[in-house]
Amino acid sequence: MIVAVPKESPGERRVALAPDGVKALLRQEIEVRIEAGAGLESGFADAAYEAAGAKLHTDRRALLAGAQVVLKVQGPTPDEREALPSGAVWISLLRPLDAPDECQALARTGATAFSLELVPRITRAQSMDVLSSQATVAGYRAVLLAANLLPKMFPMLVTAAGTISPARVFVIGAGVAGLQAIATAKRLGAVVEAYDTRAAAAEQVESLGARFVVLELEAGDAEDAGGYAKEQSEDFYRQQRALMGQRAAASDIVITTALVPGREAPLLIDEAGVRGMAPGSVVVDLAAPNGGNCALTRPGETVDVDGVQLVGPLNLAGDLPTNASQMFSKNIVTFLLNLVKEGELQIDLEDEIVSGSMVAKDGQVVHPVVLEKLGGAA
Ligand code: NAI
Repeated sequence: MIVAVPKESPGERRVALAPDGVKALLRQEIEVRIEAGAGLESGFADAAYEAAGAKLHTDRRALLAGAQVVLKVQGPTPDEREALPSGAVWISLLRPLDAPDECQALARTGATAFSLELVPRITRAQSMDVLSSQATVAGYRAVLLAANLLPKMFPMLVTAAGTISPARVFVIGAGVAGLQAIATAKRLGAVVEAYDTRAAAAEQVESLGARFVVLELEAGDAEDAGGYAKEQSEDFYRQQRALMGQRAAASDIVITTALVPGREAPLLIDEAGVRGMAPGSVVVDLAAPNGGNCALTRPGETVDVDGVQLVGPLNLAGDLPTNASQMFSKNIVTFLLNLVKEGELQIDLEDEIVSGSMVAKDGQVVHPVVLEKLGGAA
């Protein structure tokens, strides 16, 4: 079996497979081809891949010719779709809910395509969970980004030149990214508060030494069977915005991470909430790729609102590509090996990890959620 790993497009610094991932595949007698320079921005030299046993290719068509499996971080470029051998297995992020037409274009190549975003969050799939691994990196990075912009230090200092009070950080959404943001801000010495609609998050927030903010607001049935947040009513969000604005006004840094699967990010900080913050304060909106939790967020930009810096990053995990790629590689290798039995691909649709993440097969989009996004054609 041959696995090919193309170089990502400019702007994506991660790589789907790290040299350790090459070794793990070789142990299963899987041949690995990698495009020259694919790992450079993640700190993995071509020589490291060769030393691990991969074959380097400088020509992308030759790389893909005869490959049974292609691994990438981002979805295929038009060139890659064209060069994909018929019947190949494609595994990457595919943004199935935001860009279902990309899944359709990939389906037309005849590939069997898997979207890593759709891997079910079950215990057996934890080591394949790219959403968690990349959110961990993003949560950490968000705090460092905010710390760099803030005109204050994080820790409390008692010095001969006076006492410096600690920075106050408020994290909205205490899922994977939010918990890592809390832990990072605590390590730097900030006073940290957090809020989540899921009551289960309170214990996790407190175990990190932060204060869980209790709102005079009933989130009702806030959690679905998978542990994800449920969408709330517009009335709930309106009241939440008023209360979030009060907490934001008392904070130096607000990090927002709130998402509801399959929906636009909920709007939790309105314009008044941002304008209520002191000049020099910072908001990092990790929900920017899904529209943002803050009304003034411009995805991909940093805007200055009366001295408040509002950052809307689109790919924070990609800002720390070495560790992000290491974790992504571990996730994608585990996912691939779950499709391989005795050195051969065996796509077992009885396996909920396989059926839950497969978006295309035999020329058709097959995932119900993607089909719904495409307009319901079953
Ligand atoms: P996510 O990225 O979908 O959402 C981030 C956070 O925003 C969540 O904690 C959510 O409750 C929160 N949120 C949504 N609406 C909000 C609102 N209006 N106000 C405040 N917060 C709001 O979620 P993520 O981080 O991917 O995971 C969330 C949960 O999923 C985990 O805490 C866990 O229960 C479950 N999970 C399970 C895994 C497993 O078993 N393999 C792996 C990862 C997550």
